[in-house]
Amino acid sequence: MKINGTPYRTIWQDADGVVQVIDQRWLPHDLRIVPLRNRAEFATAIRDMWVRGAPLIGATAAWGMAVQMAADPSDASLAETWDILHETRPTAINLRWALDAMRSHLAPLPPAARAAAAAARAAEICDEDVEINRQIGLHGLAIIRDIAARKPGKPVNILTHCNAGWLATVDWGTATSPIYHADAAGIPVHVFVDETRPRNQGAQLTAWELNSHGIPHDLIVDNAGGHLMQHGEVDMVIVGTDRTTARGDVCNKIGTYLKALAAHANGVPFYVALPSPTIDWRVHDGLREIPIEERSPAEVTMVQGRGPDGAITSVQISPDGTGARNPAFDVTPAELVTGLLTERGLCPATAEGMAAMFADLKAAV
Ligand code: MRU
Repeated sequence: MKINGTPYRTIWQDADGVVQVIDQRWLPHDLRIVPLRNRAEFATAIRDMWVRGAPLIGATAAWGMAVQMAADPSDASLAETWDILHETRPTAINLRWALDAMRSHLAPLPPAARAAAAAARAAEICDEDVEINRQIGLHGLAIIRDIAARKPGKPVNILTHCNAGWLATVDWGTATSPIYHADAAGIPVHVFVDETRPRNQGAQLTAWELNSHGIPHDLIVDNAGGHLMQHGEVDMVIVGTDRTTARGDVCNKIGTYLKALAAHANGVPFYVALPSPTIDWRVHDGLREIPIEERSPAEVTMVQGRGPDGAITSVQISPDGTGARNPAFDVTPAELVTGLLTERGLCPATAEGMAAMFADLKAAV
């Protein structure tokens, strides 16, 4: 997508072969681009959320493996790099998917051939992500178009949670891709953006994206969605996912489950934008089998923002001595999901529907 008219991806190799990323910790206040030069820097960038979002975490791990292969292409280095990058964050399955894709491509090759092959495969994973998200957008566009046809002259109101936008992928985003496609097709859309405490990915990232692209939107507190749905102000919900199980349970940013419950109670369609690398075919019961990342209590007790002096700063919002819990993801059971928006089309959130649409991928596991 574009920033001030210039096309950007979230991760790319510059003319000197150095991998560059948008350091998302400073958005929406500052656009900072940083190089990642070695395995340790890649691991830090994922763990400390310089980059985040399931598809981008996978793409960054792929490039981390590629950069390490240029430094040391040995079998030991390949195995150790898989381990080091894999342990950076536990929930998004794209991390493992990308590392497995790199390892299975590289392991049969002689070490001398691995650096070039790894860079080529990492670039391919990024290009595949862009195309998958473009296809998700086209399938989602058809759904938005149907809703628009039922309310001529009025915008389609879409609620989204967290950031499943282009910043969370290599480009387009998953949940936002249908929105960008609808806007480009001249369909009026309006987005309710959940702020998404505690990291505020909605307020800081989704709002920044939509603002940059001129998409009408309003930021809402996380607890407002149910109220808006009760009053008919939301036509559909589209969220992303960090891991979707073989039967369609959806793990996504904390708070997604409550939005799904509210949507279900109010007859609002609840769609999940799902790139196929985010399916974990080894897992069925999302509630019991997916590891949920617990992050620092300080993310709950502190809030970061830009002060009147322009400096980015953190302030404490709770009393000294108050503890906090910070589970970063939750699981929405498949029965609350209206449909999975995949690159192959709209898929029922059922074991049978997913197995039918992705028979080849399921068989390959
Ligand atoms: O903790 P984050 O910011 O990495 O969490 C991101 C999300 O939960 C996104 O909604 C999810 O990765 C889907 S991104 C297309």
